[in-house]
Amino acid sequence: MKQTRRTVLQSLLAAPPAMIFTGSSAHVWAQLSALPLTPACETGSVSTPQQTQGPFYRPNAPQRNDLTADAGSRRRFSLRGFVFDTGCRPVPEAMVEIWHADERGEYDNDGYRWRAYQLTDDAGRWGFDTILTQHYSFRTAHYHIRVQPRGGEVLTTQLYFPDHPRNHGDRLFDPRLVMALDDDRSTGRFDFVVPSL
Ligand SMILES: [Fe+2]
Repeated sequence: MKQTRRTVLQSLLAAPPAMIFTGSSAHVWAQLSALPLTPACETGSVSTPQQTQGPFYRPNAPQRNDLTADAGSRRRFSLRGFVFDTGCRPVPEAMVEIWHADERGEYDNDGYRWRAYQLTDDAGRWGFDTILTQHYSFRTAHYHIRVQPRGGEVLTTQLYFPDHPRNHGDRLFDPRLVMALDDDRSTGRFDFVVPSL
């Protein structure tokens, strides 16, 4: 049977939440079932829109999915989702990288706070536990993301909140890149779609 995103999700929901992520992050995968499906892979298998990398990217970020070691009292936020190809097949071992501003809208340009990368698991899942980012200058709140399938091109993009008051004043804001938030707004869900290899 052709594996669609829906059948992938159903098989995941039937599986125990062991996953490749362990420790404090493992429980968050259970929230996948509570989040609405985003339309990314069901509306014509269109690749996720590219966005500018911006001036604050730094190479050589550490591999990790938990960025909260320096979070202190900052408000936590988690990001979760899948990487699919344009045939709606999950993409394992895709590199997913994140970098973002802190609660004051500032980037760490000397070190690697709020910067990380990881590889998707066998089901194409990615996820980061970090802090709630904030807007700065003319930019609404956003998370920068790079996705690179093994042997594929880099997708550089950004993720947004659905109702941030600064969205409509930011010319880079793209409603196709809005995360689906869970009920307590502590987790954002987004599925990336990359060209099939
Ligand atoms: Fe930015």
